Amino acid sequence: MSASSLLERDARTIGAIEKLRFSPLTAVGGEGSELITADGRRVLDMSATWGAASLGYSDPVLARAVAEAASGMAGASILSSVGEPALCFAEELLARVPGEGERKVWLGHSGSDANEAAVRAIEVASGRPNLLVFAGSYHGGTAGSMAVSGHPSQEHAQAHPGRVLVPYPDPYRGGSAAAALERIDAALAEHGPETFAAALVEPIMSDGGLIVPPPGFLAGLAERCRAHGILLLCDEVKVGVGRTGTFSAFAAEGIEPDVVTFGKGIGGGLPLSAVVGPAPVMDCANSFAILTTAGNAVCASAGLAVLARSDELGLAERAAERGAQLAAGLREQALERELIGDVRGRGLALGVELVRDRTSLEPASTEAAKTIVRALELGVAFFCVGPESSVLELTPPLTISAAEVDRAVEVIGAALADVEAGRVADAAIAGYAGW
Ligand SMILES: Cc1ncc(COP(=O)(O)O)c(C=O)c1O
Repeated sequence: MSASSLLERDARTIGAIEKLRFSPLTAVGGEGSELITADGRRVLDMSATWGAASLGYSDPVLARAVAEAASGMAGASILSSVGEPALCFAEELLARVPGEGERKVWLGHSGSDANEAAVRAIEVASGRPNLLVFAGSYHGGTAGSMAVSGHPSQEHAQAHPGRVLVPYPDPYRGGSAAAALERIDAALAEHGPETFAAALVEPIMSDGGLIVPPPGFLAGLAERCRAHGILLLCDEVKVGVGRTGTFSAFAAEGIEPDVVTFGKGIGGGLPLSAVVGPAPVMDCANSFAILTTAGNAVCASAGLAVLARSDELGLAERAAERGAQLAAGLREQALERELIGDVRGRGLALGVELVRDRTSLEPASTEAAKTIVRALELGVAFFCVGPESSVLELTPPLTISAAEVDRAVEVIGAALADVEAGRVADAAIAGYAGW
């Protein structure tokens, strides 16, 4: 099997609507932080498949848990029978997510279905029509989750009739907590705060540009929600499960959301998602958000293995440590590489915003695309996010080693140097549409 034959077959079979391609990356295997490509190269994966491979690839504990569950096969779901792996997983999540009163857990397959189920339940339980949503936010790719997102790639989707979009503060582009909270106050006043069922927020906006909101913003939002009986839904799909140095990213701001959604890394690469929320919301109706195979023993066992490995290996602490190392290395690169406008993030959720000019902050989208392609040639994979596709997103496996972090920094610096020197041709990015 060659990379070119795989790429040709892919072009003939998998439709564009299912693709988000930035480079000719193929994967026929994986081990630790590396993907093995169809032509036998080992590529350091600084994306971890958009954060899903939280334990890296072929983790032995995860592999064993999945194999045992598949060979014992206790049914195919928990829809109409009780299954222990799903129960244990739900109990473990409840123990890790702070909250008051009785809370319950819904299980699904992806971050999208978790956000969709959570929003529908909140609407029914609250009886309120409106939702506060942030421009640039990405909450999923199903109709219901797109309807409550604000990402530019989803402008074609039918918006939820009660979606009220407000700006997310981007400190690099002059955003402040005070100004963003003022816009929220204005939106609440315009529609009436009592009409809002929930505010949906990514504690770090990922697909919208890996933006860390300024201190006090999330706390201010939480305060307003509490004052008006609006539920705060925190979308931890990309940044949760230890990635930012704490189990949930919202912990850094000392807030306690009412509803929390998880996906991606919680399943270690297998399809698993979860909503944790107050019992009155989660029990709003029977057979209301059912997915036949949700909570199946294989995926629930993968989730349990992820949580067990996170504890055993201290992955949240490691993410904080390796993240600081990665950010420091990239900031050092920024001293030489003019294209780097900003290095930001927390733990192992980092963004490198590329700009053509550090004063005008003109987004360097083409340069970002070329950096991704060149870095892959040099053995490191990652993708980009942001409204202009100009922010390199680094969300590697939480198990990444210090030596691998150094290797990533070196290659990113070398790739940027090649792009700055005009050594990457336009033809190299032809065919990679990105977002
Ligand atoms: C913050 C956030 N929420 C939800 C989703 C949707 O997750 P999935 O694609 O696994 O359904 C994503 C995916 O990028 C995400 O980044």
